[in-house]
Amino acid sequence: MHKPIILQQIIDSSDGVLSIAESEDKIPFQIKRVYYIYDFKTSKSKRGFHAHKKLQQVIFAISGFFTLTLDNGKEKTNHLLNNPNKGILIDKKIWHTMENFSDNCIILVIASDTFNESDYIRNYTDFINFIKKP
Ligand code: TYD
Repeated sequence: MHKPIILQQIIDSSDGVLSIAESEDKIPFQIKRVYYIYDFKTSKSKRGFHAHKKLQQVIFAISGFFTLTLDNGKEKTNHLLNNPNKGILIDKKIWHTMENFSDNCIILVIASDTFNESDYIRNYTDFINFIKKP
């Protein structure tokens, strides 16, 4: 369930580090959308609480840190994301939550498709029923 995505770090001679995410290379799908989440007012916020029917996403903390929980309906795993080049694949049919955001946290999400609310499963019981289907 837990697939780390480690981007290369190119240490630039003029200062700074570059990490590159390319479709079907480090990112295991064609990239259709990128969004980022920032400006957290409190570390007590919690986000996510949904799964996707088809969408695949790779998530990074490109600044600061947060905790990601993945749940495939059978087991849950927790992951501290705290490095701009270390992401995690959130595959389809994985219930996920994000919490414990640092002040300066910026979350980058790379997604396999455009936004579509009908791809979301926002109720946990519906999620369990959905993953039981063949
Ligand atoms: P949501 O995916 O539920 O956020 P999170 O997983 O971080 O808790 O999205 C929050 C709101 O933003 C929801 O009303 C849908 C909207 N939204 C868009 O309009 N476009 C997008 O690409 C995304 C990701 C969300």
